Amino acid sequence: MTSYKTQVVIIGGGPSGLLLSQLLHRKGIDSIVLEKRSREHVLGRIRAGVLEQGLVALMREAGCGARMDREGETHEGFYIAHQGRLDRINLAGATGGATVMVYGQTEVTRDLYAARDEMGGVVLHGVEDVELHGLRDTRPYVTWQQDGGTHRADCDFIVGADGFHGVSRKSIPADVLTEYEKVYPFGWLGVLSQTPPVAEELIYARHPRGFALCSQRSKCLSRYYIQVPLSDRAEDWSDDAFWAELKRRLPQDVAAGLQTGPSIEKSIAPLRSFVAEPMRYGNLFLAGDAAHIVPPTGAKGLNLAASDIYYLYHGFQDHYLNGDSAGLDSYSQKALARVWKAERFSWWMTNLLHRAPDGNDTDLRLQQADLDYLFSSAAAQASLAENYVGLPY
Ligand code: APR
Ligand code: PHB
Repeated sequence: MTSYKTQVVIIGGGPSGLLLSQLLHRKGIDSIVLEKRSREHVLGRIRAGVLEQGLVALMREAGCGARMDREGETHEGFYIAHQGRLDRINLAGATGGATVMVYGQTEVTRDLYAARDEMGGVVLHGVEDVELHGLRDTRPYVTWQQDGGTHRADCDFIVGADGFHGVSRKSIPADVLTEYEKVYPFGWLGVLSQTPPVAEELIYARHPRGFALCSQRSKCLSRYYIQVPLSDRAEDWSDDAFWAELKRRLPQDVAAGLQTGPSIEKSIAPLRSFVAEPMRYGNLFLAGDAAHIVPPTGAKGLNLAASDIYYLYHGFQDHYLNGDSAGLDSYSQKALARVWKAERFSWWMTNLLHRAPDGNDTDLRLQQADLDYLFSSAAAQASLAENYVGLPY
């Protein structure tokens, strides 16, 4: 049995857990990260790729911003395709200069792992049967199985950054936790391909056949999605069928310029809105997907994780460096206030752009009116833009 003693045990080595441990380390606050899967597995997951300025600033503060600043692309707007035409949302123009950074989450995670390695951060992979103990005691601890033995880490605090399926949220007694959930009746079929993006900026498309999204990772790597029924399976979609369906949902001139190629990755993701309240129980703090899920339409998943980490980072700093626990005490309330606004935005943008399989003509006309209003009102565009670039922390 190995025993560790640290200030903060972080469960989950996704972007949330790694970013927090890296930020804390640079302030002299010790942590260890426990990750169930191998590093190769974590880095093999393809996720979204639009970073708000808040996350960009945190990556720089964590000392992890160099490659992002070199290879990431600043976007000042994006397009919404509807009724055969392309309308642009001018993010920078509508917000007084705010932009987003297009840089893949996989690359964010890769940079965080590299930084943890460089600083000698402890990130243990392949941990099994993680259990949280003494959450309401002054000395909580975590146990796990690894290499055939039981291991233990004593700490002051535990951060549950172990994603939607993790053990942390489940360790909070059911009578303390309230879970809010909405599952959407469709999924996103995503394809990654080594082809140049179809446009300089992202295109979100509303079409009678269903939603489509043209996104990108770099000048020669593109990410595309189409709305599909939840009963579809990725392996039943050939590359040709995917490209053909994507083209049908794009304005003709955009479709004509689409460069297709073999898919490097193809998968279906369900769409869900989910929030667990509170985000703190005793000495356990939930962060990122462990506490909330948004449908990907607003590109908010990773960015919400980042705002949680921002609040926790400052809360731990105040606690350890200034003896002030107010930040930790208000964590759940502050994080949830921002979470619900991003949940609202993601839900709204999902409803605006998807074809509801159970919707009727009234739903369609209301959706059309929502879009007409958006493109006839500078105020509506400014509202979309301020949410898309990210509300202040
Ligand atoms: N013990 C240890 N680690 C675990 C456990 C467990 N019981 N359960 C899950 N994990 C690990 C997962 O293997 C994963 O690597 O926790 C990590 C959680 O990472 P993510 O799911 O990526 O969640 P998070 O770090 O909060 O990242 C923010 O927001 O919308 C999303 O796509 C976005 O994944 C991104 C997320
Ligand atoms: C992506 O690039 O994968 C992506 C971009 C924007 C979204 C969702 C996903 O809203």
